[in-house]
Amino acid sequence: MESYQTKDLLPEMVTAEPVRTKNGQLVVDQGVTLTKQLIAKIQFYSIESVTVENFAKDASANATGQKTEKKVDFFTHNSLLHYEQKSSSQSKGAVAEPSYSQKIKKSSEFQQFQVNFTFGANDLKAIFDDIIAGKPLDTQIMLNKVLTLVHPKQTTVEFFDMIHNLRSVNDSIYAHCLNVGLIARMIGIWLKLPKNVIEHLTIAGLLHDIGKTRIPSDILNKTDALTEEEFAVIHKHPKFGYDILKNQNLDPHILNAVLMHHERCDGSGYPNQLSGNEIDDYAIIIAIADVYDAMTAARIYRAPLCPFQVIAEFENDGLQKYKPKYILTFLENIATTYQNNRVILSNGETAKIVFLNRQVYSKPLVQLDDGSCIDLNQSNLYIKAII
Ligand SMILES: [Fe+2]
Repeated sequence: MESYQTKDLLPEMVTAEPVRTKNGQLVVDQGVTLTKQLIAKIQFYSIESVTVENFAKDASANATGQKTEKKVDFFTHNSLLHYEQKSSSQSKGAVAEPSYSQKIKKSSEFQQFQVNFTFGANDLKAIFDDIIAGKPLDTQIMLNKVLTLVHPKQTTVEFFDMIHNLRSVNDSIYAHCLNVGLIARMIGIWLKLPKNVIEHLTIAGLLHDIGKTRIPSDILNKTDALTEEEFAVIHKHPKFGYDILKNQNLDPHILNAVLMHHERCDGSGYPNQLSGNEIDDYAIIIAIADVYDAMTAARIYRAPLCPFQVIAEFENDGLQKYKPKYILTFLENIATTYQNNRVILSNGETAKIVFLNRQVYSKPLVQLDDGSCIDLNQSNLYIKAII
């Protein structure tokens, strides 16, 4: 077996070991033949290298001459790779970030939100400290502090604009928990759940990663590849969180969400590899909010992903990891939020989203400025940015 840099991976290579994120989430299992999609996925998660079974490069080049050619196509057309390569190569350039994002960040609304959010994250840290010190949690006070961030007149687009752009500013455990709480609340609203359930989901999102406070910061913030032992430590954070909270006066679904938010319906999650109905519905909703927030966060190696790229990633990753009624409602609403918005396509043309494809939400029908329409599901083009 041999270790390859992710950028050097080729279709047909076979993984010799499980490929995991720094958080320990399984991306590709051992013994899997890599495809273009899987390589994109590995690159998306910023995994630096992968150990593969012995692989004859020359033979591959000959045998997969066609595939090598296709790989060029893929690098041209795949949204995530293309965007990340462009983002990293332009990281100091004038067009590293969509102008739409720059516009939002300059707005007084965003700047006020950023200040309020920072206060909110600090409040959450103080609340976590009190819980860890054994003080009783007043969930109503916690909710009130968070809900001051959300204005009744704020539209869904405005809400996500704020959330998306903020993620390049603040990346602490507390900021992430605050975001997940707000996104989980939005999912609850979309699902038309009762008010008390929406509040419980918000609380679950706010508390879901409290167990990370027990993970040594040198592991949590490590930028190099984690060892198996370090993954094992990271995998303990849902149980740590459950233990920290179990004596508080909390709804059992909230505790389950904390314990199970890394479980997946296909059994690929952790810590207990639960599947299907073994996983609390609250945990599935928190998982969706958690993954969405992670993907829209700015990373050292890329700008925040455009919402349609995130939708594509959920669709590529496999919707069966989440319950259909939750993930489809989420994707539909995210896509609907941006319907009628103007976008930049991967070939640089501007267009307007005119019709959503309910089979593939990442690939709507768009109308170009000359009035002609393109069905992105029948095209290699994709949405690169919202403008
Ligand atoms: Fe987590």
